[in-house]
Amino acid sequence: MLEKLKQRWKVNTLNLILIIATFALGGSLCGYAGRKILQLTNIDKGFLYILLYIILITLLWPICVLIISVPLGQFSFFRRYIKRIADRTSRRSAKKINIAIFASGAGSNAKKIIEHFSSPGKVKIALVVCNKPGAGVLDIAAQANIPSIVIEKNAFADGDAVLAQLKNYHIDFIVLAGFLLKVPEQLIKAFPKKIVNIHPALLPKYGGKGMYGHYVHESVIANKDVESGITIHFADEVYDHGEIILQARCPVDPNDTAATLAQKIHVLEHAHYATEIDKLLR
Ligand code: GAR
Repeated sequence: MLEKLKQRWKVNTLNLILIIATFALGGSLCGYAGRKILQLTNIDKGFLYILLYIILITLLWPICVLIISVPLGQFSFFRRYIKRIADRTSRRSAKKINIAIFASGAGSNAKKIIEHFSSPGKVKIALVVCNKPGAGVLDIAAQANIPSIVIEKNAFADGDAVLAQLKNYHIDFIVLAGFLLKVPEQLIKAFPKKIVNIHPALLPKYGGKGMYGHYVHESVIANKDVESGITIHFADEVYDHGEIILQARCPVDPNDTAATLAQKIHVLEHAHYATEIDKLLR
C-alpha cells in the first residue's frame, strides 16, 4: 500500500511520511477551525449545523493542508495535489455527454429521447445516424435541429470509418433506437458499456438476425405467447445480446395482431427508454 503510494506520487519514504503527517495534521486543524467558527454563530447542533460544518471543512481543508505543508516542507506537493482535485472536479461538472442516436426507420423512440433531453443540461443529442435515405427519423432530427448523417449498409460495415465520423461529433454514448444493422466490432470495442439497444421482445426470446419490428410480433403471436415486452440492454458483438438493463412486460391478448402488439410495445418503449438512458448517464 505504502509502496504503491510512493510510486503513484513519485516520492521517497521520508516525503511520504511527511505527506501523511500533513494530511493528518491538516485534517485535524480543519476540523478544529470549523468547530471554532461555528461556535461564533449560535446555531444549535442540528441538521443546519452539520450542513454548515461539512461546507466549512470542505472550504477550509485545502487552506489548512497548505498551511501545515509549509513547515513540513511539502508545499509544492500539496499545491499540485489540490490543483489536480480542483481541475478534475470542474472538468467533471462542466463536461457534456454527447449522444448519437442510431435509427433506421420512423424514429418514434428517437423522437421521445430527443424530447426528453431537449432542455439544456449535461446530456446533448449531438447526432442522428441513419442507414436509410428518406427514413422518418431524418425528418425528426431536422425538426429538432440535430445534425444527421446517412451511412448505408456497406459503408457502415467499415467500423473505422464510422468511428471517425463519430469522433468529429465528439460522441460519448450511442443509443440504438430501431437500428437494424449489426454494430461493427470496432464500435463495440471503442464504446465499452456505452452502447444501448432496445428490442421489442423479452430477450433472449425473439432476438437475433432478422428479428426486428413486425417479425418479432408475428412470431410472438404465432407461438401463442401470453405476454411480450421490451428489453433495454447494453450492446455487444452479438445481435440483440448483452447485459440487460431493464425489461418491461405487457399481456398478449388472443385477438392481438402484430400491429396491435406493436402499439403496446411502443407504449412501453416510449415510457422507459429515455428515462433508463437518463439514469445510466447520471
Ligand atoms: C422499435 O419497436 C424497436 O424496439 C425496434 O424497432 C422499432 C423502431 O420503432 N427495434 C428492433 O426491432 C431492433 N431489433 P421506431 O422507429 O418508431 O422507434
